[in-house]
Amino acid sequence: MDDRHIGIFDSGIGGTSIWGEIQELLPYEKCIYLADSINAPYGDKPEEKILALSIKNTEFLLGQGCKLIVVACNTATTNAIDYLRKNYNVPLIGIEPAIKPAAINSKSKIVGVLATKGTLSSSLFHSTSKNHAAGITILEQRGTGLVEMIENGNLGSEEMYHLLKSYIIPMLEKGMDYLVLGCTHYPYLIPLLKRILPENVTIIDSGQAVARQTKSVLEHNDLLTSSTVIGTHQFFTNGDEKVLASILSSAKAKHSVFFKDF
Ligand code: SIN
Repeated sequence: MDDRHIGIFDSGIGGTSIWGEIQELLPYEKCIYLADSINAPYGDKPEEKILALSIKNTEFLLGQGCKLIVVACNTATTNAIDYLRKNYNVPLIGIEPAIKPAAINSKSKIVGVLATKGTLSSSLFHSTSKNHAAGITILEQRGTGLVEMIENGNLGSEEMYHLLKSYIIPMLEKGMDYLVLGCTHYPYLIPLLKRILPENVTIIDSGQAVARQTKSVLEHNDLLTSSTVIGTHQFFTNGDEKVLASILSSAKAKHSVFFKDF
């Protein structure tokens, strides 16, 4: 049993979609969430920069005494998780595009992946696609500009709708029947995606799978909390607290948002 916090970091507010799944599955756990919004998006940055930012975020959370760290950012996971696992003595959970379930269930055998340049060009993404999607055509689409708009609180705008449409339509024309969201910011686009996608196209994101994995790693390492009181959560951002607070406004769990210059 271990009553310390779970640490979660992302390049910004997108990883709150992962936090939501974790707190739902593990309501007694408490979390510290770090949003490195000032450096968002990570997806267009060189690998060395993504690694340096991931190290800084990990060390901040370890400095807060976290017992496990969730890298709630696909780009940071694909570019930095191997290094972090080798160099820090704490369980680390990463996020990878959920290609496997899409590949297993696709009838058209054509799966679209919407992700950042940093994720799509990583070797981890390519090895996952190769291992889990034999016989499947993977359509890779960079979501250029989407993270910036989400970070600016520009979620449901017509501008966003048209940009998203320009990424999705070409994949539909090629016969995609599964769309994998390969960035933790993108679940916030699901309402807009549903306006664009026909009913036969299934959207897959990794949130619930990551929450289950977090639970299993905590159990395996005897790190589950002994608390029977619903956990409270702290959110730190070096960006605009108002945007983070607004994305959390419908969250049921008790939480506080702080600005932190890190
Ligand atoms: C980004 O910072 O570019 C997106 C984060 C992600 O890949 O999940």
